Amino acid sequence: MCGIVGYIGNKQATEVLLEGLSRLEYRGYDSAGVAIFSDQHITVKKRAGRLANLAGVLEHSPMEGQMGIGHTRWATHGAPSDQNSHPHTNETEAIAVVHNGIIENYMDIKQWLQETHKIVFRSETDSEVIAHLIAHYYENDLKVAVQKATARLQGAYAIAVMSKDEPDRLIAVRKDSPLIVGKGENENFIASDIPAILKYTRDVYFLENGELVDLKREGVSIVDEFDRPVEREVFHVNWDLASAEKEGYPHFMLKEIEEQPAGVRETLNQRLTAEGNLNLEGLTMTEDDLAKVNQVVIVACGTAYHAGLIGKALIERYAKIPVTVDVASEFRYRDLFVDEHTLFIAVSQSGETLDTLAALREAKRRGARVLTICNVVGSSVARESDDVMYTWAGPEIAVASTKAFTTQLMAFQLMALRFAELRGSMAQEEIRTVIHELKKLPDQIQQVLTMKDEISNLANQHFHKDKVLFLGRGMDSDIALEGSLKLKEISYINSFAIAAGEMKHGTIALIEEGTLVICLATQKHVYEKTLSNMKEVKARGAYVVAIVQEDAEQVDDIADVVIRLPKTSSMLTPILSVLPMQLLAYYTSIERGNDVDKPRNLAKSVTVE
Ligand code: M6R
Repeated sequence: MCGIVGYIGNKQATEVLLEGLSRLEYRGYDSAGVAIFSDQHITVKKRAGRLANLAGVLEHSPMEGQMGIGHTRWATHGAPSDQNSHPHTNETEAIAVVHNGIIENYMDIKQWLQETHKIVFRSETDSEVIAHLIAHYYENDLKVAVQKATARLQGAYAIAVMSKDEPDRLIAVRKDSPLIVGKGENENFIASDIPAILKYTRDVYFLENGELVDLKREGVSIVDEFDRPVEREVFHVNWDLASAEKEGYPHFMLKEIEEQPAGVRETLNQRLTAEGNLNLEGLTMTEDDLAKVNQVVIVACGTAYHAGLIGKALIERYAKIPVTVDVASEFRYRDLFVDEHTLFIAVSQSGETLDTLAALREAKRRGARVLTICNVVGSSVARESDDVMYTWAGPEIAVASTKAFTTQLMAFQLMALRFAELRGSMAQEEIRTVIHELKKLPDQIQQVLTMKDEISNLANQHFHKDKVLFLGRGMDSDIALEGSLKLKEISYINSFAIAAGEMKHGTIALIEEGTLVICLATQKHVYEKTLSNMKEVKARGAYVVAIVQEDAEQVDDIADVVIRLPKTSSMLTPILSVLPMQLLAYYTSIERGNDVDKPRNLAKSVTVE
């Protein structure tokens, strides 16, 4: 949940680090800091708050030096203060460290360092122990000291380290937190994610768990956890920085909402032959493989979990395989019925969410086949899966996930159809009909996005509400969950979602005069019943916004506002019905004066448990 960047070369390190950190701020924005080597010593500057605070400090007192490490923090241990910001150093400031992750046994190490070695700690973080521990083991070889120190660490970490006594060397190591190496000409980089270094190089190495990289100006060497040299192929990044920039939009979130027609189209087109048949390259499962599967388990977090709920409905409907869906943080701690007859599907935009990764490993350990829907090529979740279906959404920067979600839904559509094809549970003609409808979706998404002004007005009328309720039945109740998450995440309004039929078992007590209720009613087979639920809340004073299909009847007499979606099959409406809710969350957040792209207490990539 923090961003790490490191540089060694001939450029001014501060500039490279600030540029890199600005690309990583989505990972955490509680504080930022850099450590620069120059004139035989290390200077650290760090500030609580956004990166701009640190940049201001560096503008007034610039730091010269061609080697350095930087960090942007999402606080776990200790409040977001200057003191708790990274880099951390040992007492003599000979060693500087930045860390992403959580050191679970830091209290034991801290106590040992305090009692046995009289070390005085200056922060409340778990990370500071790493600096002292490396210093404790340091005997003129930073790599060896890092290896000895990390051997004592439990938990997850990506760490970058430098020593004032080795001016031509950066060491970085990872376990369960992402880290990449950027390879340049007489300069090298390390970072938590590709955008941080893309201005300087497109050639990267992905580090695997337990690997350590020794960076010099002239080259890098990688070793595994047993100190054996590792040969790694260079991965050439083929997307450019522009796709990770705002390009004139006021916020990444709005840009990403608008990119949905393209992302969904690309995710579909990559999997269709010229004749319009399915061609799922990343999904190598055969008829025999699928015949062995007696259950599908989908695991994910947050928005990706909501995509999993829709995935369940699609796989059960199209392919007739029973599916369970679980949040990743719960999955591992249950009594699991996962074995070699289980198909485990992980869903993750980043591919680095620690809970999802840990669940995937547990499923693999039990013999399940692992398939992933992921947006980031080469991410940890993708690399550890048997099959990967990439969502071609492009980089998603805003903390609130939008285009990743709709492309995940498209990936599930295609996967479920492929399973149906392999199992013979749908006739080819039926599959072709669904594909025909899927092809219309990008234009239909575009059509829904033209309702921006209408939805912005709605936000303007209701942004001051202290609670909002989302209702729906069937897949609409899954999308209600996503609408509610989006709203609470960036507007901070207390919103919640519930299956419409459950209202009268308790929750309806919350409805009072003027309560805003967003009611989805796109599912034909339960349309009348959902209308009844709408009437129930309306009768108790709710202000009802209905989201329905184009040809929906009777609803105008009940709801205060009716949002009509272009006509499609009930199985496909989630890709459209979520859009007005994304826009509502976006405009409400703006009305409330919030930081849309960087909501409080959150970070884009959750790489801690
Ligand atoms: O990268 P992932 O898809 O694994 O992330 C999962 C969640 O952290 C993420 O979807 C989160 O819920 C979003 N901030 C929601 O907008």
